[in-house]
Amino acid sequence: MKISDSVFFVSGGASGLGEAVARRMLAHGAGGVVIADLNLGSAQKLSSELGDRALAVEVDVQSTEAITAAIAAGMEKFGRLDAAVNCAGIGWAERTLDRDSKAASIDNYRRVININLIGTYDVVRLAAEQIAKNEPNADGERGVVVLTASLAAFDGQIGQAAYSSSKGGLVGLTLPLSRDLAPVGIRVMTIAPGLFDTPIYDTMPPGLKEHLASTPVFPRRLGLPDEYAHLVQTICENAYMNGETIRLDAALRMAPK
Ligand SMILES: NC(=O)c1ccc[n+]([C@@H]2O[C@H](COP(=O)([O-])OP(=O)(O)OC[C@H]3O[C@@H](n4cnc5c(N)ncnc54)[C@H](O)[C@@H]3O)[C@@H](O)[C@H]2O)c1
Repeated sequence: MKISDSVFFVSGGASGLGEAVARRMLAHGAGGVVIADLNLGSAQKLSSELGDRALAVEVDVQSTEAITAAIAAGMEKFGRLDAAVNCAGIGWAERTLDRDSKAASIDNYRRVININLIGTYDVVRLAAEQIAKNEPNADGERGVVVLTASLAAFDGQIGQAAYSSSKGGLVGLTLPLSRDLAPVGIRVMTIAPGLFDTPIYDTMPPGLKEHLASTPVFPRRLGLPDEYAHLVQTICENAYMNGETIRLDAALRMAPK
């Protein structure tokens, strides 16, 4: 799939990794980017900076209705959809038993699964329905789907039961999705990022971000959001990438805590 003239639906596109995808794809000639985010204010601020090829839409990925409406709004503005990049997600830390051996909240667990896993699947199935209507290219390809897992899918730390389950679910989803969507020429790839410098670290205790930045093997720093976006671009452009999860983590393996 070529980036130029293609139209991207980016969930969580108003911040961090999704924002970097929106910026990079437009810089490389994308025909349009739908910035689909819970935070409409940030999405609108970004779209007004990026110009007419960006469209901000308020979407909670927990709502099938909102996703459907956002895809329709993108179709109305840009007339096509070629790729869905799923970056909407939340972090969560809660031990299964706290220090007093009190059980964790099942509502918090459900919320993380609802947003990170079920929300992603809902975006993918609805976007794929639209992408499947494209004329195939010479390779039979109609479009691309990218999921965003995490190192926590493999090396979940203490307190990451909910988050790791949601991200491990995305890793598990990758191959069956690519098999389901192969008949219509849609490829599916998952990126499992290590530690990337995005606003998710803004709420952490002082010093923790600096500590985390020292943990990757090489290069010993946080990843840049554009390094994630670069891999999304590569996935789109390399027609032989399908059905696999790529760790993008500077060789980091997370310790128990
Ligand atoms: N930054 C990292 O180090 C890192 C590492 C591994 C995985 N990830 C994953 O990458 C993705 C993007 O993370 P980020 O670091 O860019 O975070 P971020 O907080 O900067 O961006 C996430 C965006 O998702 C949006 N969002 C949250 N809940 C939503 C919902 N229900 N519906 C629609 N939009 C919603 C937020 O408004 C925000 O704009 C997440 O899935 C996260 O789990 C990030």
